[in-house]
Amino acid sequence: MKTVNSTEFMTAYRNRVDETMSQHIQSVTSEPSLKEAMMYSVSAGGKRIRPLLLLATVAFFDEEITQAQVDVAAAIEMVHTYSLIHDDLPAMDDDDLRRGKPTNHKVYGEALAILAGDALLTEAFHLIGCSALPADLRVEAMTQLAWSSGANGMVAGQVADMEGEQQQLPLEQLSAVHQRKTGRLLALPLTLGAMLTQQPFETVSRFTEMGNQLGLAFQIRDDILDVVGSTDELGKQTGVDAEREKSTYTSLLGLDEAINVFERTISSVLNDLQRYRKMEGSISALEAIIQGLAEIPVERKR
Ligand code: IPE
Ligand code: IPE
Ligand code: MG
Ligand code: MG
Ligand code: MG
Repeated sequence: MKTVNSTEFMTAYRNRVDETMSQHIQSVTSEPSLKEAMMYSVSAGGKRIRPLLLLATVAFFDEEITQAQVDVAAAIEMVHTYSLIHDDLPAMDDDDLRRGKPTNHKVYGEALAILAGDALLTEAFHLIGCSALPADLRVEAMTQLAWSSGANGMVAGQVADMEGEQQQLPLEQLSAVHQRKTGRLLALPLTLGAMLTQQPFETVSRFTEMGNQLGLAFQIRDDILDVVGSTDELGKQTGVDAEREKSTYTSLLGLDEAINVFERTISSVLNDLQRYRKMEGSISALEAIIQGLAEIPVERKR
């Protein structure tokens, strides 16, 4: 494993992903209003966790990162961004603030926001289709992206989340909601990072399993931040889950236990990952990103 400066890695590849999304949208979109609405959400910021996880997984396996892999990373971020636009709609979570700016529908109206989401979703597959990956890997990337985001993935999770409002789901059911609405799209970068570098089947499976745990932890973290985070830091309204009577880890387990589950889950991912380290003593960008997620500002209300 090469020693990577993780801050430089993240800055460099965040920029590459941003440029890739922007170039694709600018070059394919024929309607100016649609282009503006798509670009508005894509350039509003966001942590870019999913694409960075994919590229850091490729680097973890000692591979040089190619533009084709950046295309796949950008495609995942486009699907994620579409999911946020739709998640914020009045018919869903009805939120006014996202990534520190008014939500897409607040600026462009509901119809254009829905269509901008539709276009981001569709163009994600187009971007992978046009990438320079070998054909078999392109098919694999598209199939995995569809599976993670579709009717057994993010969209299914969003339905279960909606149907879980105004009731307290038991832990097993809540965990299944979280694993689908958020977990799958966070596991995907680890799966694809291993697949695109042609790792053995066993390694791909282990990375998917770590990704599933990481994805669950990420949504538990989001539930915690809704309680303890600030709108300024997060760029979205906080305290809204309780208002909407959402089933969350904090509402089910209480804040302290939710934090314990979060910390246990993320440490177990970091432990598992360590077993794949080829060189002791150097932290990979992948571990640095996951460690960064483990630090949440939970002290003040504990
Ligand atoms: C927020 O995702 C929604 C969830 C799935 C929990 P992120 O926390 O990755 O949001 P951005 O992309 O940084 O805005
Ligand atoms: C969103 O979960 C999951 C998605 C698929 C977008 P939340 O509804 O909790 O995400 P935020 O808190 O609005 O970012
Ligand atoms: Mg939601
Ligand atoms: Mg929401
Ligand atoms: Mg949330």
